Parts: sequence; C-alpha cells; structure tokens
Amino acid sequence: MENETSTGHVTRKTVLKAALAAGMAAPVALMGVPALARTMGGSEGDLALTPTCDDGDDPTIPQMEGPYFKPNSPLRSSMPDGPGTRLTVSGYVFGRSCLPISGVLLDFWQADNNGAYDNTGFKFRGHQFTGADGSYKLTAIVPGLYPGRTRHIHVKVQAPGRPILTTQLYFPNEPRNNTDTIYDPRLLMNVRDGSGGREAAFDFVLDVKQNPSPTPTPTSTATSNPPGGTWAAGTAYTAGARVTYGGVGYVCLQAHTAIAGWEPPNVPALWRVG
Ligand SMILES: [Fe+2]
Repeated sequence: MENETSTGHVTRKTVLKAALAAGMAAPVALMGVPALARTMGGSEGDLALTPTCDDGDDPTIPQMEGPYFKPNSPLRSSMPDGPGTRLTVSGYVFGRSCLPISGVLLDFWQADNNGAYDNTGFKFRGHQFTGADGSYKLTAIVPGLYPGRTRHIHVKVQAPGRPILTTQLYFPNEPRNNTDTIYDPRLLMNVRDGSGGREAAFDFVLDVKQNPSPTPTPTSTATSNPPGGTWAAGTAYTAGARVTYGGVGYVCLQAHTAIAGWEPPNVPALWRVG
C-alpha cells in the first residue's frame, strides 16, 4: 500500500486516512481489509498518478472551468435520474496535513448521457458540503461524451473562507484520455462496477494549512466521555484486540494507537462489531 513505509511503520495520519477511506468506500464488502479509497477497484491500478495526501505532496491540481459552468446550482448531492449508467462519486476532502475538512463546498456539473449540458436549467448540476468527517458523495450518471473531450466531471471545491479550486475528474480506461489535451492522469478517479451502476472514488487535497498533529487528551476521552467502555485513547491496540464501547463489543482490524475521534464504530477500518 502506498502509504506504508517499507519498515511497516504506519503513521497516525496514514491510519486515519485509511480508516476514513475504507469506511466510505468499502463498508461491508471489504470488511477487515482496510484500504485507501484510491487503491480500490480501479482497473488501471496506477495508484501513483492519483493525488495523495502525505506531507509535502501537491494539492489537487486545477483545470479550466470550461464554457458550461452556471452559478447558483441547487443544493443536492443526488442528481435527478435520467438515461444513462448510474454513477456515484465519493471520497474525502483533505488539507495539506491530510486532515479531513468539513463544510467544504463541492459544486458539480456534468454532461448528460448524450454529452449535452443543461444550459437553461440545472440538470446534472448541484452543490453539496462535506460532512464532519470531510466526506462527500455525489449520485449522478456517467456523463456522456461530446466532441473534443474525453469523459469528465467538472467540480469547484472550496474550503470555508478559502479560494475556489476549479478542476475536472476523469474516468480510467477511456480511449479519449489519450487524445484529450486537457486530460490529466492526476485527476483520474478509481472506478469500479457496483450494484446498479458504477462507483467512483476520488479524494481532494486542498492547499489549506492545518495543524498536523492535534494532541489528543486521553484522560478527557477515556474517562469522561460517554458512552465509554474499555476502549481508551492512547492505547496501542493490536489486530484482534477486543474492546467495548457504548455497550457494544468490537474487534480491532488493524494495529493502531487510539486517539480521540477513532472510537468505534467511527472508523470501520479499525473496528468492527464482534
Ligand atoms: Fe465539460
């Protein structure tokens, strides 16, 4: 896995990111096999090309807006149904220190199944905000092709009070990826077949400075936070370790040192009910 070093050392940040991603992208099917969203499913398997969120890495690159953006899109994460293959796009928005950012505006617009943009209305246009865990999910259709371009989705991403990142997302294994001069492999989504359509994953990294290591206070979490249990921040858990939290038993899926915010079942990559 890309973020594990050869020594097997996994940083807290890496575990958090893996936990977030796995929880979002593989809640059931890959239970017990934590993985980054970007490592899953993509048949091209070229992981190095997707933006990563390690210290020092570049944020998600911008791309041209194009001629079809319209302001004032409706607030919605699910586009109206229409002809075409159903598509979900999900992932997280991180800052430069790989911490998720909540309240990030994502404004998506795309062509319909025939490659046409709705320039009179707002079909296949919509904006949403990341949740408290920095996640987003768009439900739409696979956009159609139009002359001169490969298959793509437009998006504007803006953390609260920060500049807007305008960019585009791409699909792997598209013949036109090789001839579209705007296409950039760093903006490839991981896409796989899912139930009833296609499931894409992409994590954005915004140029937002963050405190890279908020210091947890184990005493406040372990002793005073309801609902409590045997789980405790600051504890080094090994895979297979068992804890209780909120009256429910959990099994540790991968070794980590617990911090506040990683309580089960918040991080499905770390804990499963058992
Ligand atoms: Fe476009």
